[in-house]
Amino acid sequence: MKTRNTLITIILPALLLASCTSDKALAPGPSLKNTFINDFLIGTALSANQIEEKDSVADVLIREQFNVLTAENIMKSLFLQPEWGKFDFRLADKLIDYGTKNKMTLVGHTLVWHSQLPRYVHRITDKDSLTEFFTNHITTVAARYDGKILGWDVVNEALNEDGTMRESIFYKLLGENYVTEAFRLAQQAAPNTELYYNDYNIEQPKKRAGAVALIKKIQDANVRIDGVGIQGHWHAGRIPLKDIEESILEYSALGLKVMITELDVELLPRNFTGADISERMKMKDDPAFNPYISGIPDSVQQQLANDYEALFKLFLKHKDKITRVTFWGVNDGQSWLNGWPVPGRTNHPLLFDREFKPKPAFYKVIGTKENVN
Ligand code: XIL
Repeated sequence: MKTRNTLITIILPALLLASCTSDKALAPGPSLKNTFINDFLIGTALSANQIEEKDSVADVLIREQFNVLTAENIMKSLFLQPEWGKFDFRLADKLIDYGTKNKMTLVGHTLVWHSQLPRYVHRITDKDSLTEFFTNHITTVAARYDGKILGWDVVNEALNEDGTMRESIFYKLLGENYVTEAFRLAQQAAPNTELYYNDYNIEQPKKRAGAVALIKKIQDANVRIDGVGIQGHWHAGRIPLKDIEESILEYSALGLKVMITELDVELLPRNFTGADISERMKMKDDPAFNPYISGIPDSVQQQLANDYEALFKLFLKHKDKITRVTFWGVNDGQSWLNGWPVPGRTNHPLLFDREFKPKPAFYKVIGTKENVN
């Protein structure tokens, strides 16, 4: 009897307490990076504030959930070389320090892009000056971070929707070989860094054919290209799963690593697809254009969750070909889709809400791993 009482009064509560504590220790909130640790890297894009560690809540989530970082803006030429020949590496260096300190992988975005160029580049009208900017920018920046980052988006968005070359300033003044030349310069300056081509909608058949031709051209010139980034700015209820799967197979067959580099699933109405940041949409004076100011209804939340689940099931199916999945932002409040293509809307395209709380989509993504293995 005495033993029984001791069991009830002392040992049982102690056991219960221990089991509660160890439950906590054994089962912390799920983490994306740990869940997919054997499959692919899980990344996010960081804003300048996040790089400067000004947002402590975001900071905790970044370290808990992600193992690879892209700068959302500050490694674009507008920010790295704001004046001709004068570089500003302060924030980019800070990102490298942040990644190193937290044992995270880093990706550079982007060496050559027609958007977010310094103003003086737009004023260039001759081939020689543009060649000078192009060569100096790629060489200086790529060399500085060689060995410190995993890879560079060497060229971003060189293609039109029909697969032809976009008539950017680079194309117009340097000619169509500029993409191969960018990779050649990056290869010389950064022998230890992976080199990627990155674009949106390159899962779509016509644009994909253009990307394949572009990649083959680089390869035929004996210039190194290691991977291709499908940006992944998709729309809820309209994820082109078949095109994405065909693209993963096709790019991988070229000997390339495949990455999803800017993933978000947009919920708001749009009259075009893609992610050309110069394209804008006039918001009609109609609340239907901004319907989720105070949150999303369950049905939409479920749609988002199902879309993300379908995507991650596909990514897992091809985990031998996919090396990284990066979300374009940490939480809904940060997403560029609140300001583009219509300024001032309230979008909800990511896995964490404005309070940094995981949404149903987050749990569905985590669940894909449980269901597959
Ligand atoms: C976006 C950033 O998220 C915004 O903050 C910025 O104002 C414009 O650029 N494709 C790309 C990214 O390759 O660099 C873009 O990022 C989104 C579309």
